[in-house]
Amino acid sequence: MRTVEWHDGNVRMIDQKAIPWKLEVVDLKDYAAVAAAITDMTVRGAPAIGAAAAFGMALAAKNSPATSLASLLTDLDQAGAVLKAARPTAVNLAWAVDRMFKHALSGFADAQALRDGLLTEAQRVADEDVAINQRMGAYGAALIQDGFTILHHCNTGALATVDYGTALGVVRAAFEQGKRIHVLLDETRPRLQGARLSAWEMEQLGVSYDILPDTAAGYYMQKGEINIVLVGADRVAANGDFANKIGTYQVAVLAKENGIPFYTVAPTSTVDLTLASGAEIPIEERDKSEVLTPYGHAITPPHFHARNPAFDVTPHRYLSGIITENGIARPPFTDSLKRAVAGEKV
Ligand code: MRU
Repeated sequence: MRTVEWHDGNVRMIDQKAIPWKLEVVDLKDYAAVAAAITDMTVRGAPAIGAAAAFGMALAAKNSPATSLASLLTDLDQAGAVLKAARPTAVNLAWAVDRMFKHALSGFADAQALRDGLLTEAQRVADEDVAINQRMGAYGAALIQDGFTILHHCNTGALATVDYGTALGVVRAAFEQGKRIHVLLDETRPRLQGARLSAWEMEQLGVSYDILPDTAAGYYMQKGEINIVLVGADRVAANGDFANKIGTYQVAVLAKENGIPFYTVAPTSTVDLTLASGAEIPIEERDKSEVLTPYGHAITPPHFHARNPAFDVTPHRYLSGIITENGIARPPFTDSLKRAVAGEKV
């Protein structure tokens, strides 16, 4: 099944908090529940939360008692604000809500036509995501040689998207081409997306992998065991600086120090050309309990102090390229990203 989908008038999603122990789905009946699922990371990963928000808007339209177009638009405006506030860093969330709202303004005859139109548009967002991931997979797989070991951070696979994946979509595409590859998965503290979700996905696909403590990446780079680093992105600024899961920046610096190519794989819906540089990207800080009591296992008394930034920003100078659905953007990114976002082949 897909990570997020419309099912029987509800938004159905895989509960990513339960993986790898259980594969469970939750059915959400209103947009506030969708927003809560984004905040508590039942669904996570930039493209997946974008698709969840798109379906959340369709759900808001379905549940609204409005009989006129104008009052339905007012209800959608309110739902969009709640969904956008669910998490701040991944721009796909705001991108999806804005796309749905723009579609809502595209001249529907009445409230019921708008409800139907929004569901169709949400399905389109989801279907496009899968197709885009497959295109990025094909571009990225050209960089992967037979026998490569790939270092990966966080989870960017089918679970982080509607299906297939971004950086792990490249891994999947290379594997499907018959290349013999091995993936080193940073465990990705504190939520352990690498150890729990990426490893589970590699198990499903049959791709060879090892989970690494986050602190081991430099060790294997120094030993010459890593050929390329692939990560995802939550927001890419106009100059190519990008926010991704906390720890990405230190991996990028280590890769440069060790002369290893470092790529981010991101659909153009993750590019935010309104921001000149990564310094403007809002970074989410999550509750300290995720650090002190990961998954219910206390490693300190709860009153101990901790900080928990969910993302960091990697300056564009560490990037070999940005793999998009329109090709691989290369420096200078201010030019190549603008063209990729405009739909040009780069
Ligand atoms: O906090 P998360 O798990 O939502 O963070 C996810 C990431 O940082 C991913 O690398 C990013 O969203 C790209 S996913 C295709």
